[in-house]
Amino acid sequence: MKNKEKALLDIKNLNISYRTKNGEAKAVRDASITISQGEIIGIAGESGSGKSTLANAAARLLDKSAKVISGEIVFEDTDILKLTEAQMQSIRGAKIGMIFQNPASSFNPVYTIGNQIIEALTCHIKLTRKQAHDKAVIMLKTAGLENAEYIMKQYPHQLSGGMLQRAMIAMALMCSPKLLIADEATTALDASVQAQILRLLKDISIQENISIMFITHNLLALKQICDKIAVMYGGRIVETGSTDEIFTAPAHPYTRGLIDCMPDIGSHERYLKTLQGEPADILRVFKGCEFAERCPECMKICIKQKPPKTQLSENHFASCWMHCKAEVKISEQC
Ligand SMILES: Nc1ncnc2c1ncn2[C@@H]1O[C@H](COP(=O)(O)OP(=O)(O)OP(=O)(O)O)[C@@H](O)[C@H]1O
Ligand SMILES: [Mg+2]
Repeated sequence: MKNKEKALLDIKNLNISYRTKNGEAKAVRDASITISQGEIIGIAGESGSGKSTLANAAARLLDKSAKVISGEIVFEDTDILKLTEAQMQSIRGAKIGMIFQNPASSFNPVYTIGNQIIEALTCHIKLTRKQAHDKAVIMLKTAGLENAEYIMKQYPHQLSGGMLQRAMIAMALMCSPKLLIADEATTALDASVQAQILRLLKDISIQENISIMFITHNLLALKQICDKIAVMYGGRIVETGSTDEIFTAPAHPYTRGLIDCMPDIGSHERYLKTLQGEPADILRVFKGCEFAERCPECMKICIKQKPPKTQLSENHFASCWMHCKAEVKISEQC
């Protein structure tokens, strides 16, 4: 972990539920993660594992039906859950930037790209229009759009998906945020544009010392840019570790399952492996581990009792009974 003593974002024991007609859907369960300044953290997990709910909470952009049941989201020493919406607005955009999967829906189709980027800047920082225009041109170039003056005059529908995503990154970086939340930001792009955007995000993080929370179900993308990774299952963070630890010594059977499902580049196998079973039902209250019913290594204790978080190395943690030696000895396989 970089800058060990100073966390930029510290999410502590966060529980978030959605009110649904079938009951309380527990989308995030007791999640804790820390992001240091300049660090890139990847959030991995299957669809529905709670990645976006966690990311939206970090920017206080949760859906109206969501409720933070308990926990803290400390950004620069302030629990943002305690701020008013007006106070939050001054942080969002200025200190926390966001980029999403579908940039087309983040831009207004009736205004030029230039107008929208300038607006994003001037609502937080006092600048003349000329100063804002010049900064927008620089940021578009930083985001890899060399013909920035031309792009400024275009409407969103006149740009390709990759160009629009770069413009979105430029807009998110306009106020020099400390944290960038990228939720499936490269998922809709083809492989070569995806690789370029990943490289760009990594370069920007290094040059500007920006932290990035990078959310995706694409483990290959995480492997390319992240310093550390948190793996979510059924709303719970089941493992965190450095990218190297997660890929070379995955400690949770779910993480191992996800890695086994990664397409093997150069492999001649025709079929991708898939994880057996259904994702955890978030309406359910689990006495034990949420993954137990799908786990190839499930023991009786896994059904009955929640696994504690076990520290495996300085920054590597997993919540799995397999790592609790005394209990494993006395528990039987399911
Ligand atoms: N507004 C909502 N109302 C009710 N349930 C919701 C709402 N938004 C999300 N959920 C549920 O919360 C759970 C977590 O959703 P979330 O979008 O955080 O998952 P995710 O990991 O981002 O998935 P994906 O990879 O598909 O984007 C899912 O079961 C989802 O159906
Ligand atoms: Mg999502």
